[in-house]
Amino acid sequence: MTTSSAPGKIILFGEHAVVYGRPALAVPVTEVQATATIRPGAGPGIWIEAPDIGLHSELSRLPADHPLAAAVHGVFAALSPSLHVGRTEGVIIHIASTIPVASGLGSGAAVSVAVIRALSAHLRRPLPDERVSALAYEVEKLHHGTPSGIDNTVITYAKPVYFMKGQPVETFQVGAPFTLLIGDTGIPAPTKESVAAVRKLWEADKSRWEKIFDEIGEIARNAREKIVNGEWKKLGSLMNANHALLRQLTVSSPELDRLVEAGLRSGALGAKMSGGGRGGNMIALVERKNAPAVAEALKSAGARRTIVTQVR
Ligand code: MEV
Repeated sequence: MTTSSAPGKIILFGEHAVVYGRPALAVPVTEVQATATIRPGAGPGIWIEAPDIGLHSELSRLPADHPLAAAVHGVFAALSPSLHVGRTEGVIIHIASTIPVASGLGSGAAVSVAVIRALSAHLRRPLPDERVSALAYEVEKLHHGTPSGIDNTVITYAKPVYFMKGQPVETFQVGAPFTLLIGDTGIPAPTKESVAAVRKLWEADKSRWEKIFDEIGEIARNAREKIVNGEWKKLGSLMNANHALLRQLTVSSPELDRLVEAGLRSGALGAKMSGGGRGGNMIALVERKNAPAVAEALKSAGARRTIVTQVR
């Protein structure tokens, strides 16, 4: 039996602008995870079991662009010609995840990474991180249109990442750990839709939105410096500024704004939406001792769930 787990993720700064080549910062959220377990099957064939989504199917019965099928086919394509999907012994791929779906926590990328790692290890050809991330990116593309690649990267490396599309992966050190509260609006937020909405705006007035992307990129650069230097308290105002720019990009929502305001009113040092937006999650920077009070305030303002995470 082979098992592999992958964490969730949260974008600290730079979502959306990252699709247009600006830097963004993302960190793993280890409090939630996706796990893939591979065990030999009783008979031939590759079976995929994901009880959380009511899936129990033989691989060949799933459409080729189903994310789980795409991850499995990706592994075999990477290992061909020595391994072939029709010529391997039967296996059961069991998937479980505690990462909320379509909420900006990277559930899809985490499942892909866990499956790719577990299956390639089971086939005794474990793939290096670079290949794992590249295969997970191919799966992301099927469902997200034009993803930047930040989700699969931070989840594969499970370290804080300074990400620029098309550049080599840059991880960075956190000078002093800090606490974030993640607040979930409970509203499913398909990234594909908010990314497409921003593209429409950009196509209609490129120079206006390029300036906004520049400002967001500058915030992300500045934030990395503060994190590396252990000056995490200074991130609060950068988060607020980034949120204001995301509002201009129309990717926030009344529910996200309500949680951001509730966080700030209850003692957070800064707050912003995180990920694709229009639903999904927001994050608030808190002193550790204030986390329970801010979590209560977020719940009163409509948060379905909160997660406290340490960035280290
Ligand atoms: C999604 O987690 C982050 C976005 O910037 C999209 C992407 O980078 O692919 C909204």
